[in-house]
Formats: sequence, structure tokens, C-alpha cells
Amino acid sequence: MKIFKLENTDSTNNYCKKLVSEIREDAVVIAKTQSGGHGTKGRSFSSCKGGVYLSKLAFYPCKAKDSFKLMIKSALAVVMTLKAFNVNAVIKWPNDVFVNGKKICGILIENNFQGDEVFYSITGIGINVNNELPEGLSDIAVSVKQIVGEQNIDAVSSTLIYNLNRDYTVEEYKKYSCVLGKEITVIKGDKIFKALAADITSDGRLVLDSGEELLAAEVSIR
Ligand code: BTN
Repeated sequence: MKIFKLENTDSTNNYCKKLVSEIREDAVVIAKTQSGGHGTKGRSFSSCKGGVYLSKLAFYPCKAKDSFKLMIKSALAVVMTLKAFNVNAVIKWPNDVFVNGKKICGILIENNFQGDEVFYSITGIGINVNNELPEGLSDIAVSVKQIVGEQNIDAVSSTLIYNLNRDYTVEEYKKYSCVLGKEITVIKGDKIFKALAADITSDGRLVLDSGEELLAAEVSIR
């Protein structure tokens, strides 16, 4: 697997997209800073020096129907990486990683489908490690440095790459879920309602106590 180490790029996810026209092997792109880091729902992602900004490009990682596995893998890879640095994190379905109620990492997965296969997937991960957090985010975001002190960025990146190459099960995922058994607020289309998160199926749906099953793409939860 090729590893591209960059000083700066607009976005490591975008860099991976460009690689698709040049290579057909899995690759990892790491940048010290990003000038156009972005997240879900078109939001920008602050990417100043000291954070880990990494994207993994994988060709034919799974069947389209199994694409939730990529979310499981990314969230667990981050949780395991943080654990290696003595930070205990949990996962808010589907793949938000939190420590003490604050977000420590952002994950953006961009999949390209070919028939019933995922042709390529780009898993972009930004972890707050030694970086200063943007002003105004201190109530909702946290960094590794704030919890266990400054860490070696290269060590965090290589641990993350190792953990991204592992396989995980839904059972492992459930162990780190902070929503299972809890009351959550579901936002689905123009409806907002409270429900109990009862289970997560092997294909990644969140099962509510009413029996309704939610797909990550359809809802937000609070
Ligand atoms: C989110 O919280 O909405 C997801 C943020 C994802 C940020 C990472 S940083 C590495 C990769 N490059 C990007 O532009 N985005 C992802």
C-alpha cells in the first residue's frame, strides 16, 4: 500500500480522488495541514498543524450493501488508535467518535459505486491531537493533548493506518456504542421524535424500541 506524506493539501479526500485516475492500488494520504478540509453536510473542517489528517483510498472494499462496514471500520480504527494512547472514546451511531461528551475526531467517507460493488471508497479521518481547537468549539470538541498531553503525530498516524487495515465485527462496534440502550432524538426528514436505541443490525441499521430500523443516510440523532 502506497503512503503519500504531504506538508499541505486542500483535502486529503480530494487528493485520493485525483489518485483514482492514476493508480489502482490502495493508498493512504496524510497531510500536516489542509487548506480546504471538509466534513459531512458541506461543513468545513479546521485543519491546522498538530492534528492527524488522513485519508485511505481502497478499491473494491466491499459489496454496496455492506458499505456500513466501512463506517464500523473507520470508527473502531479511531477508537482503537486512541486507546493505544490511553484515551477512552465511544461511538455515536453511525461513526462519530466522542470523549467525555465532546467530539475528538471527524470522519468523512466518500464511496463510488459500480453496480452492486463499492468501486472505491475514501475514508477521511481528522483527529484532534496536538492542534489548538478553533475558538468557540471548546464546549463541543476536545483534543488528545487536552486529555493525556502532547503525542507524537507520526506514531498516531501509523497506529491509525494499522487499525484501518484490521477487520472488525458489529459486536466489537456495539461494545463502544454510546447510544445503545439510551434514549435518543431522531431527526428523519421533517420529523423529530424520541426513541430508545435498542440494537444495531449486522448491516448497520439502528433498531429502535418500536422495531423501526434506521439507515445512517436517512437520519441524524442527538
Ligand atoms: C465531519 O466531522 O463532518 C467529518 C470531518 C472529516 C475531516 C477529515 S480530515 C481528513 C479528510 N479530509 C477532509 O477534507 N476531510 C476528512
